Order: sequence, then C-alpha cells, then structure tokens
Amino acid sequence: MSSGVVQTAFQQCLNPECRATFDVGQVLTACSRCNSLLDICYDWNRSILPRQLSDFQQRWSSRLNPLDYSGVWRFRELLRFAADEQLVTIGEGQTVLQQNDRLAAACGLQSGRLFLQYEGQNPSGSFKDNGMTAASTHARLVGAKMTACASTGNTSASLAIYAGVTGLFRCIVFVGSGKIAFGKLSQALDYGAVTIQIRGDFDDALARVRQICERYPIYLCNSVNPFRMEGQKTIMFRVLEGLGWQVPDWIVVPGGNLGNCSAFGKAFLELRQLGLIDRVPRLAVINAAGASTLDEFWNGLGLRWNDGRPSTAIMRDRFDQMDRHDERAATLASAIEINRPVNLVKALRALEVCDGVVRSVSDQEIVDCRARIAATGFGCEPASGATVAGVLRLREEGVIAAGDRVVCILTGHQLKDPDLTMAYHSGDHNLAAKKLHPAGVTAMPFANPPIVVDNDEAAIVKALGLQSSG
Ligand code: F0G
Repeated sequence: MSSGVVQTAFQQCLNPECRATFDVGQVLTACSRCNSLLDICYDWNRSILPRQLSDFQQRWSSRLNPLDYSGVWRFRELLRFAADEQLVTIGEGQTVLQQNDRLAAACGLQSGRLFLQYEGQNPSGSFKDNGMTAASTHARLVGAKMTACASTGNTSASLAIYAGVTGLFRCIVFVGSGKIAFGKLSQALDYGAVTIQIRGDFDDALARVRQICERYPIYLCNSVNPFRMEGQKTIMFRVLEGLGWQVPDWIVVPGGNLGNCSAFGKAFLELRQLGLIDRVPRLAVINAAGASTLDEFWNGLGLRWNDGRPSTAIMRDRFDQMDRHDERAATLASAIEINRPVNLVKALRALEVCDGVVRSVSDQEIVDCRARIAATGFGCEPASGATVAGVLRLREEGVIAAGDRVVCILTGHQLKDPDLTMAYHSGDHNLAAKKLHPAGVTAMPFANPPIVVDNDEAAIVKALGLQSSG
C-alpha cells in the first residue's frame, strides 16, 4: 500500500433520482439540490488499495507513526478523502474485540460465539471518536475555525476533546436541559467547549444547531455530516480484524440517530464491492422502547430502502403525527433518547445490505443487561446494554441461533453515567425512586449493593459470612 496518494473522493446525493455530486472541499450536510442525505464516494484506485484486509494489520508493527497507531487511519485507504498530512488523530480507535463466554452462556450462545467490541476505550470514552476524527479532518481541510454539534452527550464530549487536543477550532455544543448524563456534560465543560443548554430535548437541539450552522460560518459535526460516517466504518474493520478477517453472523448495535448502523452498512457494502469480503453479516439495530422510531417504521409501517426510494409518504405522515402530538422520546438510555433519527434513510440501506432486523427493548431490560455486561468486566453505559438485551430477545425468538457468531458493539463507557449505575446498585431507595422507578424499572435483579457495616472485625467477618480465625 502506498501512503499519501489521494484517490478521488467526492460527496454524492443518496437520492437515485438526483445523484448530484459535490467536491469534498464543500461543506454540506444535505444535497443542495434535493436536500437528501449525502455519502462520501470514491473512485477506488486499486493500485493503492490493499490486496487483502490483513495487509492493514501490519501497520500495528509501526505504532510510532500516529496514523498507523490510530484505529481509524490505519485503514485510511478505505476512507481516502484527505492526504496523510491533513489527517487529524488523537489516538482514537484503540479498541479490540473481546470474546465473552460468560455472557454467551447467559444469552444461550455456544462458547466462543459472543464478542464485545468495547468502544468505551476511545479517548473520550465512546465510539464517537471514530467519526469525529474524520469530521475534524474535514473541518481542517476546509479551514473551519468554529465547529458545533447537538448531542445527547457523547458527540459533544468527542467534539470537545478534538477541539481541545488539536486547538484547530473552537467548538460549541448544544444539549437538551436535564437530558445529558453528568459524565458526558462534565467532559464538554472540562475540555473547554462553549456549552449551550437549551430548553428541550436532543431533537430540538439538533434542529436548532442545524439552523444556526446554515446561517453562520460554523461547521456542523453531527452525523448528518457524511465524513463522520467514514470514520465510523472502521469499527467494522476492527471487528473483522479481531476475528482474523472472518465475517461474523451478526452485528448488534444500539440505534439512536442511526449514524453508527448506517456507517456499518456502508462499510460492508464497500468491502463487498471491492471484493475484500465475500459475504456480509446480518445487522440487528436495537432501539429503546421509549425511542423506537426505527422499529415503528421498519416493523410497524413496513418502510424499506426500496432501491433508494423509501416511501416519503410513510415518513412524512409519521413525523407530522409526532409533531402534532408533540411526541417525545423517553428512555433511561439517554444516549439514544431520540425520536427523529436524521440518518433514517441510510439506516434503511444498511438494513437492506445486511438483511437486518430491528427490535425495541424496555428500560428494565436495558439496565439489567448493562449490569450483566459490567459484571463481566466491560463497564458500559445504558445504551450499550441494549445490545445484549437485543441478543437475548433474538435468541428467544430463534432469530439468532446458538451457534451464530455474534458481535455486540459497546458504544460508551460505564463512567459516562455513574448516577444510573449507583441508582441501580446502591440499594438506596430514594435514588432508585428518583431515577429508575419513573421509567418503570422497579426490580434490580443484578444489583450489587455495598454492605454497610461497623468498622469492627467481628462485624465484618459476620457480614462476609466467614468463620472466625480465633
Ligand atoms: N450509544 C451511545 C453511547 C451513544 O452516545 C449513541 C448516540 C448511540 C449509541 C446511538 O448511535 O446515534 O449513531 O444511532 N449518541 C449521540 C450523541 C446521539 O449525541 O452523543 P447512533
């Protein structure tokens, strides 16, 4: 592979009736002709592509090169929209696939069949860094001095860390009031982001930041930015790498704004087109029951990709209805508390490419599964708990077989939302009543409460159920 040669990349409208193309130097979050979402496309230059995916692995032997060390830019030939010297990296994507036999057993999967892709290991503690490194690169490419995003917390933490570490641009983050876990909000504040807390939820914040970025010279870093998706493709490359370049049977991912699942679908579409894989895995996107727009569209209303022509009537009617009744998303998994996912159409493509399924799981299932995952040492935030809850459901239904190889994407770190963890474990009725009960979480079967005991040997020995040594 030769580094540094930029193959032709361009932005292209997703709408097959339009297919307008735009230079990568343009700042767009939708097609300027028809307002559809945009993809980043490539005139693949085979001479600079690897012959097989395992060629990328060799880069790990040159970890002193920051681009080879990055778990995103290690795969840069597969997202080649900028030259090496323009790429922004802060060491993102040092995440590895972990086999978890204890959880496999709990899910009724055979030993060696369940894997966790632990994206909480990223610099800002969530998968968002995979995309933000690409958006930051593009922001640098176009000379942006000011960037912004709306967020349920992780996008803002990620943008803020890139702004803080690189000093390339300032950043403004928009969050809904009372809608963001403290771990995440504290990151944005700590990394120096200008933080605007608006009255409203994520859907309101995103609509507002889109409007402001259209009117003022501010670069938008939400996942309507097609460059973000390019970075997030690499999560799938690392999953394949972790499996010795074998394709798993299932990828299971929580769905919120649907950027991640969309990026995964695009990754597999391209790898298949390039002949670098011979089959694609199936995709399971898991919604929280209180924020289940994709589930409704996919399972309830039968909305499909339909060769890039999904029914606009179905989408418009349902969104109009949401507006009329002021329907709001509500889930303890605040990361995915989203009713109007902007990447809906791209997610439909991903579900098509990957023969996907969509399920919704309750907050009770989410917090229980979060605790079960954490008990095996992989602390993750509530949204990530939806993955294992989804696997349990799909095993019950027989959709996932006991011998299938299943990869769950743990999207964010446990320390993002310590309040919820404490409400679950502490045994403090007041905490649970405030945080968990309103969401219908009344039982904490996997709680591990602290044992309160006098500072006295005999009392401690008794509490531990040990035989006295005397
Ligand atoms: N998991 C976590 C931990 C997230 O933070 C998010 C999204 C998702 C899953 C859903 O991913 O939106 O690509 O479907 N968080 C966004 C944010 C919305 O603002 O941090 P998606």
